[in-house]
Amino acid sequence: MENDHRTHVVIFPLPLQGPINCMLSLAELILSLSQATISVTFITTDAATSRLTRHSDVGARFAKYGPRFSLQSVPDGLGPDDYLRGADQIGDVTDYLATQALDAGSRLRAMLTHGSLWGQSDRRPVTCIIADGFFWFMVDVAKELRVPLVYFDTISPGGLWTFLCVPRMVQLGELPFRGNDLDAQVTSVPGMEGYLRRRDLPSFCRTYDPNNQFILHISKEAVYYPRAQGHILNTFDDLEAPLLSHMRDLCPNLYTIGPLHSLIRAKVEPIASKNASSSSLWEEDRSCLAWLDAQPSKSVLYVSIGSLAVMTRHQLMEFWHGLVHSKSQFLWVRRPGSIIETGHDDEVPMELEEGTRERGRLVSWVPQEEVLAHQAIGGFLTHSGWNSTLESIVAGVPMICWPCFVDQQVNSRTVSEVWGVGLDMKDTCDRVTIEKMIRELMGDQRERFAAKMDNLTKLAAKAVDKGGTSYCNLDRLIDDIQFNRF
Ligand code: UDX
Repeated sequence: MENDHRTHVVIFPLPLQGPINCMLSLAELILSLSQATISVTFITTDAATSRLTRHSDVGARFAKYGPRFSLQSVPDGLGPDDYLRGADQIGDVTDYLATQALDAGSRLRAMLTHGSLWGQSDRRPVTCIIADGFFWFMVDVAKELRVPLVYFDTISPGGLWTFLCVPRMVQLGELPFRGNDLDAQVTSVPGMEGYLRRRDLPSFCRTYDPNNQFILHISKEAVYYPRAQGHILNTFDDLEAPLLSHMRDLCPNLYTIGPLHSLIRAKVEPIASKNASSSSLWEEDRSCLAWLDAQPSKSVLYVSIGSLAVMTRHQLMEFWHGLVHSKSQFLWVRRPGSIIETGHDDEVPMELEEGTRERGRLVSWVPQEEVLAHQAIGGFLTHSGWNSTLESIVAGVPMICWPCFVDQQVNSRTVSEVWGVGLDMKDTCDRVTIEKMIRELMGDQRERFAAKMDNLTKLAAKAVDKGGTSYCNLDRLIDDIQFNRF
């Protein structure tokens, strides 16, 4: 019966590229696998919605689900060109999250609890909420609406776990830091003993102030988090077994369904791997794919710092010198607005002109999954965002990590120390180190990283294959949503 979709899921991501990618994939999986019984309302902020409408293929991609899919917007007072206003200048995302994203969440809360979200024509009651774990107050909203809440934290489980251990770190005196030694071991995060140092904790933990507002916020959130009826993670069991076992003690109903971008290929679009669908908030430059076609196998280093991280002009120059002097080919994404202290971004310094022309390609935004899967790519210099990390693992590309904030410090440590599939450049940004690391990753040490990466890539493929852990967990999640088995 048309419009009789009794199960109605509201999905609310953080309005950032990584979380939006993940939640749209989840929306599509739910719609396509639930045999027309579930409808989905996907809600994000005005600025993110208008960028999605402008640059992605979301409209076409979801058209086949008809009225079962609806894209709604929460007012944030920002136009598409104001998106991330402020975050790109302060160089740290925590203020952005604590202000703009939380504001949007509060507005959604009001819309949900006062029933003012839907237009007159569509008053299907909400039967389940899937929200980013950042929106801790959704626990109360779901309770008020008497519907189950499932948190989907799209950051890494390692990053999430350190967030959840913040109250414990505070209690045991490891936070705020006492003394300046960033190499001191952290001992109060179960499952990470032995490799986690202070410098590997999320950036907001680097404080000596007992009244640090973000620490207080995270401490509050950490208490709410386990109260949701379920928790989705974009990872797979074989990747992080010891950590997940600790997380399951706190949140027993855990759905590990990653790597999600790979699972969607396995379940929904098995033959579309060449042209992955786009949820992009920036216009993609696809011409770089033709440039890659002309490069030898595994010869190109792909460079990107994701959707939110920024670099200073000084750091830009260190990157640039390191890249050119490494003699490697490179494809470098410079997202508009990602260089603070702007002015002459387009000018190639004279001494780097020849090397850049011969071996480099500068672009503003690319179809990253396709780029990483290209045979010419041999390494990834990344900010260690969780999606980028998983995309690199799926494509079998070793990494050099230059983490900036949130979970990225934890991720880069895990990449280098736990999985051994890359190098961690954390807290340094000088041309000599960059050149040396590129030469190691692309040359001297290539085989060492490749062998370990190959193992992870195979485990990732197994997890999303029929009968694999992520494959089965997704079926369980959809069943639980459909039959309200929380
Ligand atoms: C944010 C947080 O900063 C990060 O710490 C957290 O892990 C996820 O959310 P973000 O910068 O969005 O990170 O990084 P990431 O998670 O790696 O997501 C970036 C996404 O943008 C990836 O899916 C990547 O494929 C895509 N991308 C990036 C493009 O499509 N084109 C590009 O040119 C660059």
